[in-house]
Amino acid sequence: RTFRIAAIPADGVGKEVVAAGRTVLDALAAESGGAFAFEWEEFPWGCAYYERTGRMMDEDGLNRLKDFDAIYFGAVGWPTVPDHISLWGLRLKICQSFDQWANVRPVHFLPGVVSPLRKADDTELDWVVVRENSEGEYAGLGGRNLGGRGPGGEVAVQSALFTEVGCERIMRFAFDLARTRGRRKVSSVTKSNAQQYGMVLWDDVFKRVAADYPDVETESVLVDAMSAKFVLRPEDLSVVVASNLNADILSDLGSALAGSLGLAASANLNPERRFPSMFEPVHGSAPDIAGQGLANPIGAVGSAALMLEHFGLPDQAARLNKAIEATTAAGILTRDVGGTAATEDVTKALIDALTI
Ligand code: NAI
Ligand code: MG
Repeated sequence: RTFRIAAIPADGVGKEVVAAGRTVLDALAAESGGAFAFEWEEFPWGCAYYERTGRMMDEDGLNRLKDFDAIYFGAVGWPTVPDHISLWGLRLKICQSFDQWANVRPVHFLPGVVSPLRKADDTELDWVVVRENSEGEYAGLGGRNLGGRGPGGEVAVQSALFTEVGCERIMRFAFDLARTRGRRKVSSVTKSNAQQYGMVLWDDVFKRVAADYPDVETESVLVDAMSAKFVLRPEDLSVVVASNLNADILSDLGSALAGSLGLAASANLNPERRFPSMFEPVHGSAPDIAGQGLANPIGAVGSAALMLEHFGLPDQAARLNKAIEATTAAGILTRDVGGTAATEDVTKALIDALTI
């Protein structure tokens, strides 16, 4: 069958890695001898579009996206546009409007990539960070200029929103993922000693949901302790479920520990499949290296593998992941992981590895 995908490269290296990912996916489809195909439509939204039109995406943009099988996203953000405008105007708008409440971010070692954690050859790192993607600290609640105290005395409030329904669905998602992937443990992350309302609700719901999964080991860890644990006891972790902000931070830490932010893949899922899900690398638009052919395309290609799983093509996803491993094992690495290869070289190596 033919999968219709909306590509939104957006800004900076987002454009380079989406182009790379599309090339690799098209090569994979060509290899399949017609078993499946991809039909792409590319949308020119992002910061340059904002500077021309005053909007990050078209007014009817969500309507134009809603019937695609998936959205393949690059990264949003450029120094000439305030980050909160670009992020809320495009990426968060899509995530929240399409109720992509589960953000899945796998973290693992790749052969040939040096990780700051790989002290011994037998150090294991194989995690999935499950991020609550619809509420929490990124609910957008609050305001500025409160209290009317005038210049120098401004007050701003940024509230976090936690609902029982929102907590429960992301936790069940994490436990189900642990079960179906044969994982042994779910770790829940909060800061419930200091944040005594929302995060204590999170802890209560976690205990209740955990009781339905007696076969899965659980733990609750405070986020500061968890960031230490990521570094000191990586083999102790399997599935990590956390709120929007905490999981955002932890997954960047996780991908850096695996070797580079440029390697990390993610899926923003609407598990009910009422709306399209969105697949994107974890990293941002990397203005410091954009436009130079230096971007690591592996995070974007790994995200394409997550998209194939979502399409019900697990064998094809595995093929893509094997091609990634063959490429890094062969030492074809971009600069962020200690190599000298260009984006284009890695892309070509990935395609070559698919055809072996
Ligand atoms: P960033 O992820 O763009 O860059 C952080 C560091 O990682 C930089 O040194 C960069 O060169 C490196 N890096 C990132 N991706 C790479 C890749 N594929 N290959 C090699 N190296 C890579 O984060 P930063 O600098 O904090 O943010 C830059 C812009 O991106 C901002 O406007 C920010 O708001 C936006 N952003 C967007 C995200 C999204 O669209 N999902 C996520 C994070 C940031
Ligand atoms: Mg982030």
